[in-house]
Amino acid sequence: MMIEIKNLRKEWKKGDVTLAAIDDINLTIKKGEIVTIIGPSGCGKTTLLKLIARLLTPTSGSVSIGGDSNKRRSVKKLSIVFQNPVLLPWRDVKDNVRLPNELNNAEQNNNVQHRINLVGLKGFENHYPAELSGGMQQRAAIARALILNPGLLLMDEPFGALDEINRNKLNLELLKIWKRLKSTIVFVTHSVSEAVFLSDRVVILSKRPAKIKEIADVNLPRPRELGIKESLEFQEYVKCIREKID
Ligand SMILES: Nc1ncnc2c1ncn2[C@@H]1O[C@H](COP(=O)(O)OP(=O)(O)O)[C@@H](O)[C@H]1O
Ligand SMILES: [Mg+2]
Repeated sequence: MMIEIKNLRKEWKKGDVTLAAIDDINLTIKKGEIVTIIGPSGCGKTTLLKLIARLLTPTSGSVSIGGDSNKRRSVKKLSIVFQNPVLLPWRDVKDNVRLPNELNNAEQNNNVQHRINLVGLKGFENHYPAELSGGMQQRAAIARALILNPGLLLMDEPFGALDEINRNKLNLELLKIWKRLKSTIVFVTHSVSEAVFLSDRVVILSKRPAKIKEIADVNLPRPRELGIKESLEFQEYVKCIREKID
């Protein structure tokens, strides 16, 4: 398996006050799976993603990736994409995308162009972030996240700031990229429709402290096209999951 989360709990402490953000989460994610995490605002989704990335230490319980627990080093290729694209404003697209190569002394310049093409930014290599729309900036952030061929891609509401048309486009492209690169994806979202469209499984979290309320399997055929959203089956999944969110 790719990720194994056992009895995970995370508390935040401020003075005498303890606030539990994550409580008793058990979850196994298989290699190559797309799992989305959905739940009410403030329930602990970002906290959970950061625990998986080992950017935070659990209060108790464990997260192991690729069979090796508590050692981030063992996870050679993990990438994270945030809601905000976080591009360097003084670098153009090409130089933003190649940043991870530079930081790791990895010379893979043809990879840079390939990733730029993959996210649909061909022709914009020399544009600066300020010259791009929000959707294009997010595409650049995704290209950057893909540059080192991550086995595990963590995405925290990456398309949350985009309009529906752009979000749909990027959803579709993410599935194409996933098919090519075969990464495992853990994707946090507010949107039930986005969750159903992308996922093999949707993990529904409760209000804070986040516990798993239910895990819904999405058995829609792949490859998925946007037209699938019009189908009765798709809408049934959406309805069913929406009813379970607090
Ligand atoms: N660094 C932090 N210090 C203290 N409390 C935090 C910190 N980060 C998040 N929290 C709290 O943890 C809870 C869950 O936050 P978060 O994981 O960001 O929720 P979500 O991503 O589901 O909106 C919130 O109540 C938030 O205030
Ligand atoms: Mg969040």
